[in-house]
Amino acid sequence: MTTPTSEPQLSTRQRSLSTYEGWTDFAERPARGRPEPLTRDQLDGMSPQDRAVYDLERRVWHANILLRTRQVEDIELQLADILDSNLQDSDRVKSAAAIDAPPALGKSTVVNNFGRVFHQQRIAEDGEWLDQDRDVRHLPVCHVTLTGRLTIKGLHMMILGFYAHPATAGILHRSMAGRDLARAAAECIERHDTRLVIVDDLHFLNMRTRDGVEVANQLKWLANEYNATFLLAGVALRARGLVGEGHTGQEAAMAQTFRRWTVLGLSPFTLTHKRAREEWDRLLFGIEQALVLTDARPGMLVDLSRYLFARSTGNIGSLMDLIRRGASRAIRTGREAIDRELLDDIRIDEGAETERRELEAKLEQQLRNQKARRRRQNKDGEAAAA
Ligand SMILES: Nc1ncnc2c1ncn2[C@@H]1O[C@H](COP(=O)(O)OP(=O)(O)OP(=O)(O)O)[C@@H](O)[C@H]1O
Ligand SMILES: [Mg+2]
Repeated sequence: MTTPTSEPQLSTRQRSLSTYEGWTDFAERPARGRPEPLTRDQLDGMSPQDRAVYDLERRVWHANILLRTRQVEDIELQLADILDSNLQDSDRVKSAAAIDAPPALGKSTVVNNFGRVFHQQRIAEDGEWLDQDRDVRHLPVCHVTLTGRLTIKGLHMMILGFYAHPATAGILHRSMAGRDLARAAAECIERHDTRLVIVDDLHFLNMRTRDGVEVANQLKWLANEYNATFLLAGVALRARGLVGEGHTGQEAAMAQTFRRWTVLGLSPFTLTHKRAREEWDRLLFGIEQALVLTDARPGMLVDLSRYLFARSTGNIGSLMDLIRRGASRAIRTGREAIDRELLDDIRIDEGAETERRELEAKLEQQLRNQKARRRRQNKDGEAAAA
């Protein structure tokens, strides 16, 4: 076993995923290797410098743990189907996909990783450049994360911004009509042979205004006109009228726009039935396997199954937050393992913390009920045998 001596692979500057440079960095970055777990002796025998590098490597690794849950696999499968059928039938109306789920359940994680795999696949198929002179870059995926309250122009500016289109650098866009900006964006999509356009945080579009309907129409226009599949993600898209069917007036226009959109969801984990509990434990087992801590033991997290559920309320974002902070603290303090005592001391997001007490009490009660039921059953069994 070797101890790491080189610098960990860290990009010095995290570039925005809403620019082609940032996205390409993300999509083409080689998969990180898991730092080797060391024994106590090896750890204690390291020079302070090597130790600092090793600890940093572990923290970076922990920050980027990616778990392939059943929900993630299901969504990826569906998205791949949609993309495939769009690629095959270029002359019919394209369908789009939307992931509609509450915050911190992994929407961005899913779409980004789906985009990353697709990017790599397309580059492997058709190369990095689209012309002999290496003038036109092959950009299979366009990715934008919306912010603020977005107008039609805003959306197209973001797409143009991804491609570093000159319109976004100067004042050119002020004199450009929305339709021209849309056309310019569509041209970028075609020129760079973009097949997948990811729009994250779509909830920043307000569809209940006139502007909103126009944005929807523009999206439809883009999605139909060009050889790209739109993949959207956001919170409460259906409730906000961003996806789903409407029946009257404005809503009818939207219903038409979104008829061909497949809406996929992500939900928190639960412990309500056996299969769900097994899935939760599988998730914890997956995290356990991924963590690099010297004194970690098998079952370190799975044994805390109910406790971790109560702390995170089954929300993967809150769970990963808690575990990452726990792992960082375990490294910093030399504890090198995660246990309940250590986690008890770590506070995470308010949402999870407020729900925690109620859920803990409920789970305790459930456990007591289960035990009482089992005792009763045993007694009944004994009585019947006698
Ligand atoms: N499959 C996964 N494996 C590991 N960590 C995950 C996974 N899914 C989500 N997470 C973690 O959960 C947190 C929230 O995920 P993400 O940002 O993707 O959620 P989101 O639904 O896009 O949230 P928001 O609505 O706030 O944009 C992140 O810290 C992420 O690392
Ligand atoms: Mg997100």
